[in-house]
Order: sequence, then structure tokens, then C-alpha cells
Amino acid sequence: APRRVLVAGNWKMHHDHLETIRTLQELGLRLPEGASSRVEVVVHPPFTDLRSAQTTIEDRGLPLVLGAQHCYHQDAGAFTGEVAPPMLARLGVRYVLVGHSERRRLFGQDDQQVAATLQAIRRHGMVPVLCVGETEEERAAGATEERLAAQLTAALAGLDGEAVSALVVAYEPVWAIGTGQTATPEDAQAACAFIRGRLVEAHGPEAAAVRLLYGGSVTPETTLELLRGRDVDGLLVGGASLRADSFAAIVQAAM
Ligand code: G3H
Repeated sequence: APRRVLVAGNWKMHHDHLETIRTLQELGLRLPEGASSRVEVVVHPPFTDLRSAQTTIEDRGLPLVLGAQHCYHQDAGAFTGEVAPPMLARLGVRYVLVGHSERRRLFGQDDQQVAATLQAIRRHGMVPVLCVGETEEERAAGATEERLAAQLTAALAGLDGEAVSALVVAYEPVWAIGTGQTATPEDAQAACAFIRGRLVEAHGPEAAAVRLLYGGSVTPETTLELLRGRDVDGLLVGGASLRADSFAAIVQAAM
């Protein structure tokens, strides 16, 4: 059977809850017939939109899976402004991004917080989407693999191969995010192959079943070529996931 590709849209800080409802309804109309048997389509709206998204998806029977962009690693407590993993799980959230470069760079999320958050997401039965990737400087210095290995080691310490196989890891080169500068299909494949090999080496053969995504300026035009990489199991899409027409076109190209 052909593999089921994962296409996730990270809406970042875009769309209020009304825009979210409209976008999902339009997406429901535009997604190609039978898409969900070939492609698992995930949307990651802002926290304030999750409840509206959940009811829209459920009421209309849309072939979409709900994701969140972040959470805290504690289950409850005096953590003003944060959102707890069980709150997301109760809303029907299945995937949670962790370690996105914007969280690391703009909000000071360090490797230790990434690891604790990843464990908390797992504990509540959701799937962490661990984001890793090198900066422009690291790439220029030939340190891409070293950087990826360090981020993986720090985030996944103590997990066995089976636990790793249930995760999603997104390779998102920082220089490609929101820049229009997509990695070449060859670079995306090489990085994903390195990540898979590294995970098997560190966590055992079962880890080979981990799903790997590429993210960074993905468009409908670049989708097909990126997914040709044998280690690229899906895509994490930012800007091009905001509009139903372009996101549906990406899903179509991924089928
Ligand atoms: O999480 C998504 C990525 O940061 C990619 O964003 O497609 O706008 O470059 P982008």
C-alpha cells in the first residue's frame, strides 16, 4: 500500500476564531475527494481557535485532524498565560508542535524545556511534532548534521525505539522558514535521511518508523518534488497553509 503522507498547516499567529471557521469550511469544500485515505491533513490554529476548529471539524465531518502549536510541560498550576497538555487533549488535539525555531529563538525555549514538553505531550496521549533545524550560520559552517544531532539528543534522551517511532520530527532549516527560500528536494531528503539514521543509531531499529516532515517555504509548486525524497514522509507548511486554496493545492499535490 502507498504510504499515507502527513501534511500539517501551522497557522502561527494568524486567523481569529471566525476566520478559522471560514477557512476550515472552505478547506472542506476544496479538499480533493478521497484525500484523507492518502494524506493525513492536520491544522494547527492558535489556542483561541481550537474549540471553534474542533466543533467545525466535527459538525461538518471534515477530514481534518486538530493540532496545537505549543503547550506548557506541567498539567496545571500557577503558570499565567500558559496552556496545559490535558486541556489540549480534552479538545481533541492530536498533534502538538514542540521546539519550533520561533519558540526557541523568540521565547527562549531551551533544549531542556523542549524535552520536558515533549514528554508531557506523550503522557497525555498526543503526538509531539519535534521541530529541529540549523541556522544559516550553522549551515555555512558545515555544522548542519552536528546541530541536528544535538537537538535530537537533547529532546529525546531516555526514549526507546518504540517511543521514538510514534513521534513526528520536522526538519525545518531556520533559513528556509518564511523566506521563500525552500530547501532543495535533495537537501531535504539528505537531512531527513540523516535524522532517521541518527534516531536508529541512538534509540534502536524500531525508531526507523518515525515520520519525518520537511518545513520551510513549502508551496503547491514544490510539494511533489519534496515528497519524492524517500525519507520525507510529509510537510509542515506555514504561510501557504493560511488560505484554503493553496493548502488544498498542497494536499492535492501530495496525493
Ligand atoms: O511551521 C512551519 C514553518 O515554520 C514553515 O513556515 O512555510 O511560512 O516558511 P513557512
